[in-house]
Amino acid sequence: MKPSSISFEEAAAVPLAGLTALQGLREGKIQPGQKVLVNGATGGVGTFAVQIAKSLGAEVTAVCSTRNLDLVRSIGADHVIDYTKEDFTKTDQRYDVIFDNVCNHSFSERRRVLNPKGICVLAGMGGAGVKEGQAIGRIARNLFIARGLSSFTDQKFAQYMTKVSKQDLIMLGDLIQAGKLRPVIERTYKLNDAPEALRHLDQGHARGKVVIAVE
Ligand SMILES: NC(=O)c1ccc[n+]([C@@H]2O[C@H](COP(=O)([O-])OP(=O)(O)OC[C@H]3O[C@@H](n4cnc5c(N)ncnc54)[C@H](OP(=O)(O)O)[C@@H]3O)[C@@H](O)[C@H]2O)c1
Repeated sequence: MKPSSISFEEAAAVPLAGLTALQGLREGKIQPGQKVLVNGATGGVGTFAVQIAKSLGAEVTAVCSTRNLDLVRSIGADHVIDYTKEDFTKTDQRYDVIFDNVCNHSFSERRRVLNPKGICVLAGMGGAGVKEGQAIGRIARNLFIARGLSSFTDQKFAQYMTKVSKQDLIMLGDLIQAGKLRPVIERTYKLNDAPEALRHLDQGHARGKVVIAVE
């Protein structure tokens, strides 16, 4: 059921991105107080991941570009890294969980900032800037490396495919109703403007979700 506290447009933004964030963070086995980094924190999945990780009691570091610093702070990020100025894999910080929506760093770079028993969850496995035709090959390669590394070291790389789950949708609805989660909507387009909406998404710099309203 749609939570009564949000509009239909906001509700339409929840299922795929919300489930991807929730199920990915579950792969990370987050415990209260753990340090969680969300790379790509201001897109559709990232804006849910930051809020859900906070609701699980994590200390959240969000990686985004300069124009989105205020947005990630407004959804609860404790720390922010501006990727145009600083590379999160080159800092002295270590994280228990990295939730990676962008996958624009090598496995060894991410291992450097992962705690010895940390988990890196790969949501965007294709990697930044990958064209549709190359995505399958890139995903297969990443899966192979992730499985290999996870079996030989205590640091784990988790991959997953989002599944439709009634139970998880109810959980997201409960978080929304409790005021712990709110979909971030960049813009609502008319159905006639759907191509423009898709072109915008394709550029890879959405701020939260875009919604198409069918009148
Ligand atoms: N595992 C699954 O089953 C599953 C399901 C759904 C989606 N996904 C994947 O999850 C990923 C995220 O999806 P999405 O819908 O959230 O994408 P999106 O809405 O297009 O968001 C992309 C985000 O990435 C950020 N970004 C771009 N370049 C970056 C960089 N170099 N460093 C850090 N952030 C950067 C952008 O922020 P700026 O504007 O600040 O650059 C933007 O907020 C995609 O790869 C998608 O394929 C996986």
